[in-house]
This record gives sequence, structure tokens and C-alpha cells, in this order.
Amino acid sequence: MKVTIVGAGAVGASCAEYIAIKNFASEVVLIDIKEGFAEGKAMDLMQTASLNGFDTKISGSTNDYSKSAGSDVAVITSGIPRKPGMTREELIGINAGIVKTVTENLLKHSPNVILIVVSNPMDTMTYLVHKTTKIAKTKIIGMGGALDSARFKYRLAEALDCPASDVDGIVIGGHSDTGMVPLIEKAVRNSVPVAQFLSADRMAKIVEDTKVGGATLTGLLGTSAWYAPGAAVSELVRAIAQDSKKIFPCSALLEGEYGLSDLAIGVPCVLGKNGIEKIVEIKLSDSEKAKLTESAEGVKKTNADLNSVLA
Ligand code: LAC
Repeated sequence: MKVTIVGAGAVGASCAEYIAIKNFASEVVLIDIKEGFAEGKAMDLMQTASLNGFDTKISGSTNDYSKSAGSDVAVITSGIPRKPGMTREELIGINAGIVKTVTENLLKHSPNVILIVVSNPMDTMTYLVHKTTKIAKTKIIGMGGALDSARFKYRLAEALDCPASDVDGIVIGGHSDTGMVPLIEKAVRNSVPVAQFLSADRMAKIVEDTKVGGATLTGLLGTSAWYAPGAAVSELVRAIAQDSKKIFPCSALLEGEYGLSDLAIGVPCVLGKNGIEKIVEIKLSDSEKAKLTESAEGVKKTNADLNSVLA
């Protein structure tokens, strides 16, 4: 398994680090436009190999995509992150052009690559990749739901005063402060619905805290988060590398699933060696369905801003 990560900033580097530590990939290539930056991050990470006990070879390159040739998976983290007070949607003007160019460069050297899109606004950037390439829709995966679900589980565990490993729950919908749909009715603690442990008000607070999970961190850190985003990407890459058929909510191109089409939005997906091997249509309650439909309208509104890039 060879993985290329474009963007050696905090998210890209964390992603490389987690992939290496989990020790399932033979090679990780970091690419960045900033002279020497990816090389530096790669060297720093390689100097942890004997300490952290991994065999993955990490290398870096300043914008030389020939180094990415033959990649099985490529992760696109390039573009600018949001600053406190900004929405992810506000990044579209700068990031759309960057994501389009990066995708072209990656495909030139790895025509069969599976792409994982992380750059924001993520659902719209995923849609852009669908619209500007001819690769199969199963090979374009937007990373948002895996991260948002991890943040949901963090909030559930906090409220339940239990370890995160004791809870399960997923977030579908758009990867935005207003678009996320944490499926609280379906969340469980060790198979028991969380409503048995928590009041309706507490559950509503968990949902709200989850939706602004990224914004809360941006406020605290002054920039976008990186540990959980990096870890979430590494789990998607691992599911592909190990052909595990695990379910993660990912931004996938919908063609009628959930009654939606012509957009990429977060829905449960089975991941394996071919990328998105199946979109799982879980039964939603009327209120969950309404929230997903509203979220889709928001994503479509942002997609409409792509026209100038797609023209
Ligand atoms: C976040 C970014 C990765 O939610 O969108 O932290």
C-alpha cells in the first residue's frame, strides 16, 4: 500500500504519523508546495520510526508529483484551513482551484488511485472531484463523517461518563456547523440506546456540541484541528488497505440513495480495497430524514458556488 498525502500541514502530517504508527502501509509520500516543508516533516517523522516501532517509509517532496506515482490511495488536505469565526464554506474561493489542480496532478501519475478529500468545504470539494474527473465514483471519498462521528462519540462518552469504546454512534449529512446530522436516536452505550441514560436536554446538547466540534477547536487553537482529522483519515486508509469492509460515514456521490442525487454528502459507506464498496441505506426516522434533506439543501447551495471553477 502506497499512500500519497498532499499538504504537509498539521492535518497531512498527523495523517502520515497515524498511518505510520498503525504500520499497515509500506510507503507514505508527503507533498507540499512550500519549499522543503514536506521533506522536513517526512524526515522528522522518519526519525520516530525506531521510537514508535514502524516500518513505513515516509518521504517528502516539494510539488514533485512524480514521487506519488503508483499510489493506491491519495489524501488531499491542501488549501487553507479556517480561522476562528469562519465557516468551512467561506474557503471555497481559494480551495476549489487548489483541489482541482492537485487532483489533476495526482491522476497523471496514479490513474487508478482512490482519492480521499479532506480540504474544505469538504462535501463540495468532493463533488468538484467527481465533476472534474472521469474516475469511478467509488474511488472518491470525502472525509468528514468519520471525524464528526468520533467527535460525537467523544461527547457521548463525556455525558455518559464512560470510555469512548463503550459508545457507538454516527453522524451523517454535510460536514458543516449547520449540516451535520448526529443520529442521537440510534446512539448506544454497549447496545443500550443512550436515551435510557440521558435526558432529552442532555442529548440535545450533545448534538449541538458535536455539530460545532470543529468550530470549537478552531476557536481554541486559532486554526483548524489536526489530531482527530488525521486519525480519521488514517482509519479510512486502513479500511481500504486491509479490505476490511468496515462502515464509516463518508461523503459519497448520491444517485437516488436517501432520495438525493447530484451531490456528495455524508452517508454510511462500506469501505474496502475498491474504495466505497456500498452505500448503506439505513432506515431513518421522519425527523432524521428531514434533517438530512435540509443538510443536502445547504450542500447544494455551496455546490452552486462552484460554477465559476467548473466553467
Ligand atoms: C475539522 C476540519 C478538518 O472539522 O473540517 O476539524
